[in-house]
Amino acid sequence: MGGKILSVASECVPLIKTGGLADVVGALPAALAPLGWQMRCLLPAYRPLLPHLAGMTEVLREADLFGGPARVMAGQVAGLDLLLLDAPHLYDRAGGPYSDEAGDFADNPQRFAALSWIGARVAREGVAGWKPDVLHGHDWQAGFAPAYLRYHGTGGAASVITIHNIAFQGWADAALIDVLRLPKTAFTPDALEYYGGLASLKAALVTADAITTVSPTYAAEIMRPEFGMGLEGVITARAKDVVGILNGVDAAVWSPALEPIPYSSDTLGEKAKTKTALLKDLKLKVKGPLAILVSRLTAQKGIDLALAALPEFLDAGGGLAVLGTGEPAFELALRALAARYPAQVSVKIGYDETYSHRLFAAGDMVLVPSRFEPCGLTQMYGLAYGTLPVVAAVGGLADTVIHASPAALSAGVATGVVFHPVDALGFAGALRHALRLYHDAPIWAKMQQQAMASDLGWGRSALQYAGLYQRLIT
Ligand code: ADP
Ligand code: GLC
Repeated sequence: MGGKILSVASECVPLIKTGGLADVVGALPAALAPLGWQMRCLLPAYRPLLPHLAGMTEVLREADLFGGPARVMAGQVAGLDLLLLDAPHLYDRAGGPYSDEAGDFADNPQRFAALSWIGARVAREGVAGWKPDVLHGHDWQAGFAPAYLRYHGTGGAASVITIHNIAFQGWADAALIDVLRLPKTAFTPDALEYYGGLASLKAALVTADAITTVSPTYAAEIMRPEFGMGLEGVITARAKDVVGILNGVDAAVWSPALEPIPYSSDTLGEKAKTKTALLKDLKLKVKGPLAILVSRLTAQKGIDLALAALPEFLDAGGGLAVLGTGEPAFELALRALAARYPAQVSVKIGYDETYSHRLFAAGDMVLVPSRFEPCGLTQMYGLAYGTLPVVAAVGGLADTVIHASPAALSAGVATGVVFHPVDALGFAGALRHALRLYHDAPIWAKMQQQAMASDLGWGRSALQYAGLYQRLIT
């Protein structure tokens, strides 16, 4: 058992992060190592990562990678076995991984085709005596990597693509097919063609040896039109190669025992101290439960449902602390809510890792009213922190939270509130239910203990990935 895996991704904690993808890519190597799988991560050398290159060794070169020279640098960074793709014409620029203030970078197809191309080369040829058994790509950014293996030779490497979010498909104009080094003969509906264009995620779904996504429920959902975002037919055609493997929580990063006022399920009184201090700092006066919302502010995350449902919760004495960035209309609407309830609502627009930890430690409940959620990590952080999740019954939210139904309460297994239908009325009802539970102190404390006892680690999921790799190489 065991072998070598090349992980190809656009984000990785602690180096670069815009969402849960980074948490997962950063956690997998340590989760797999004890099972005998050595995982190296290939990432673009974005501008903020350039200082790391100084301590690294060049292991591969390409004279012209979509318009300029490139090299792969290898080394240990922040505990990770890293390969950085240094291609200044593609990655050395201001802004985030995908965009700047002016919007998405126009050359994103080339930027991530380049990452995928180099991933395929490393898998096919190996670098400095290290040759992976499996290339494991994440999301559309790595989507062309399995396609390059298929059309330019695998060198014996198998491939896996993990879908973290099928809404992002890596669309590219059909005219780029030559530029992207893809064969025109494969521009057919059963291969690369997608609604008249190209989409790197579709390319992966038709060429990878195996497909995973980040929860069992999402694996089933994306075979249906309401969740498949146009790719449901492609997924369904490969149903026997699709598996849902839940994400885990990295307890070295997300644990109430590591917070400034540490606590455990036996010392929940300590948790209350963080709440009191936070409310004081935010100048809030809240007698009831403090709900937190830590999220990208987009339609996926059901922010509009929250805006519609929250006034009733606030009128009943609840409080709300928001941390997020995203669509300006949601930012404005949340600020307006804070203006309407100045003593109960705090809204911080921005991205702040430290503050997010403080909110999970201080909150009584975490709100996740997503329209769709492939896995979701914040509800799992909520479970780990005894900050009970109130979540929509979709994807990984449904797979990780046990609804406080009468049956679950009497069986002593409830860990949160799960609502359906996923609309504003459903969410308002869920908040009402959560308020009632909160005001029944013994029940609430019991649920917190159950939540904190949930098995959230990477252990089980790492075994599933390991089993998949093993099947692919034997
Ligand atoms: P997604 O990847 O779809 O955004 P997840 O729940 O899987 O959703 O992961 C979101 C991750 O990003 C979590 O680690 C969460 O704590 C973090 N996060 C989201 N928004 C912010 C923010 N404004 N500041 C700090 N962390 C954030
Ligand atoms: C995506 C999904 C989220 C998932 C994360 C990590 O960003 O939206 O649900 O938890 O990837 O897999």
